[in-house]
Amino acid sequence: NKGKYEHYMQKEIHEQPESLRTTMRGRLIRGGSSKGKTVLLGGLKDHLKTIRRSRRIVFIGCGTSYNAALASRPIVEELSGIPVTLEIASDLVDRQGPIYREDTAIFVSQSGETADTLLALDYALENGALCVGITNTVGSAIARNTHCGVHINAGCEIGVASTKAYTSQIVVMAMVALAIGADTISNQGRREAIVDGLIDLPNKVKEVLKLDEEMNDLAKQLISEQSLLVFGRGYNYATALEGALKVKEVSLMHSEGILAGEMKHGPLALVDENLPIFVIATRDACFSKQQSVIQQLHARKGRLIVMCTEGDVASVSVGGSCRVVEVPRVEDCLQPVINIVPLQLLAYHLTVLRGYNVDQPRNLAKSVTTQ
Ligand code: UD1
Repeated sequence: NKGKYEHYMQKEIHEQPESLRTTMRGRLIRGGSSKGKTVLLGGLKDHLKTIRRSRRIVFIGCGTSYNAALASRPIVEELSGIPVTLEIASDLVDRQGPIYREDTAIFVSQSGETADTLLALDYALENGALCVGITNTVGSAIARNTHCGVHINAGCEIGVASTKAYTSQIVVMAMVALAIGADTISNQGRREAIVDGLIDLPNKVKEVLKLDEEMNDLAKQLISEQSLLVFGRGYNYATALEGALKVKEVSLMHSEGILAGEMKHGPLALVDENLPIFVIATRDACFSKQQSVIQQLHARKGRLIVMCTEGDVASVSVGGSCRVVEVPRVEDCLQPVINIVPLQLLAYHLTVLRGYNVDQPRNLAKSVTTQ
């Protein structure tokens, strides 16, 4: 039931304030000794000691689920102090890459039935790793076959292009990071700030959804382009990859997410006055580096669209010469949840304007259950 919406993707983008609330429901509780709230993940609590002792955390997924893990890696590394690596499920299986008993392998899949992720799970189980699932589907193969896990509880997602599952996956992985790090005193202030950020996040998503008309307007400008580059770094490298994935999978426009730190190692050659480039430059520890990227792209006459924190227009628009999209600021590790929303809206409107099928993109299936 699409209610007042024309497409499931549109409905699912707009219901993210509610889906995120459901994801967090009952999981942020008043902590024992501290005055603030802390995280309780029922599915992980008996396994946290084992996870904290592991030598490595390996996230395994495909497509959007992989991107969600990429968005969460910095905060999991920071709060756990454990090295975190990422694997695309098919690539891990192709290489038969090393997985050890001392590893915690975390499998991320909306449907819980992704064929490649299931093969990687069998492989990690054989190799003796602790296997943790993060899925939206109770009773799915991943939920059943992992040792433990967390349901993201985002509600049924019908649009082939994942939107609300992506933001709920990031929130769950931030909560997993909080749970793993909960035994360390040194980062308590940081953890409390993130919990406060999580509680307020649905309101901030509601705010960023007000950009709907603005993104429709931007889509009109981009309707006939061949290609769109999306530059990000740090917490928002994942946003660049996921934004580009949304654009290409539904609007059938070529799009590529680029790690801004890699700009001079190839992508800069593409920059001219015609190719549109979306640069994510919201406030975090990488902001000044992104300002310098903007300067350099501008010096090569790049056609820039910059995403920045509210109030930062003057700091990013190189003398008012580029289009700016302002988003609300949240805790740095949660910013990817906010920043993906305008790109989801852009992909949606581009698709409608270009006359393609939003909910059933050409050649794609919702859950990839075959290899
Ligand atoms: C659980 C209940 C929820 C109830 C809550 C009350 C279920 C599915 N959830 O939620 O209805 O309101 O307690 O405290 O009954 N698991 C895996 N692999 C996965 C995902 C989950 O093994 O990929 C396991 C977990 O380790 C856990 C169980 O499935 O044992 C349920 O997980 P989850 O729904 O996340 O747990 P709660 O949030 O505690």
